[in-house]
Amino acid sequence: MSTLVIYYSRTGTTKKVGEQIAQQLDCDREEIFDTKSRGGPIGYLLALIAAGRKRLTELKPVTKNPGVYDLVVIGTPTWSLNISVPTRTYIEMYKNKFKDVAFFTTCGGNPGKTFEEMETICGKRPRARLMLEKKDFKSGDDSKKIQGFVNKLR
Ligand SMILES: Cc1cc2nc3c(=O)[nH]c(=O)nc-3n(C[C@H](O)[C@H](O)[C@H](O)COP(=O)(O)O)c2cc1C
Repeated sequence: MSTLVIYYSRTGTTKKVGEQIAQQLDCDREEIFDTKSRGGPIGYLLALIAAGRKRLTELKPVTKNPGVYDLVVIGTPTWSLNISVPTRTYIEMYKNKFKDVAFFTTCGGNPGKTFEEMETICGKRPRARLMLEKKDFKSGDDSKKIQGFVNKLR
């Protein structure tokens, strides 16, 4: 089975998780990049507002075609209790190409409607979902949870 792991990450947390998932599945991965700068307090504030309003953005071109994979694993940080703007944009752009999906999110402690919204836009039930919050990274529970998620995707 062919799998692609895609993720957006503003500060590296979701990226680290995406890399581990792809490594354990021994599959392709792609980080998605926004053309808008999201750094600093202003970037944070604008991201917060845009995510709450379910806005889209312009992404840098991706290199992998999600349509050729049996499974696309999509990762996003939670923003404003919802999907981050770049990940929302990616899902909207490619939703018709996904054969099967799985979702993961990293957050401070409240993922809100992130998974429900991803499922609604994709129009598909995910094969598995993984939510990692700040305390999981502190306690070291992240590795165990990632392993459990990966096992469901094998
Ligand atoms: C704009 C913005 C909004 C956020 N909103 C939430 C939120 O609603 N709930 C939550 O638990 N964490 C929230 N966070 C925290 C991030 O989800 C968390 O730090 C995440 O792990 C960051 O991932 P990254 O390092 O891949 O960017 C928010 C962070 C940002 C930048």
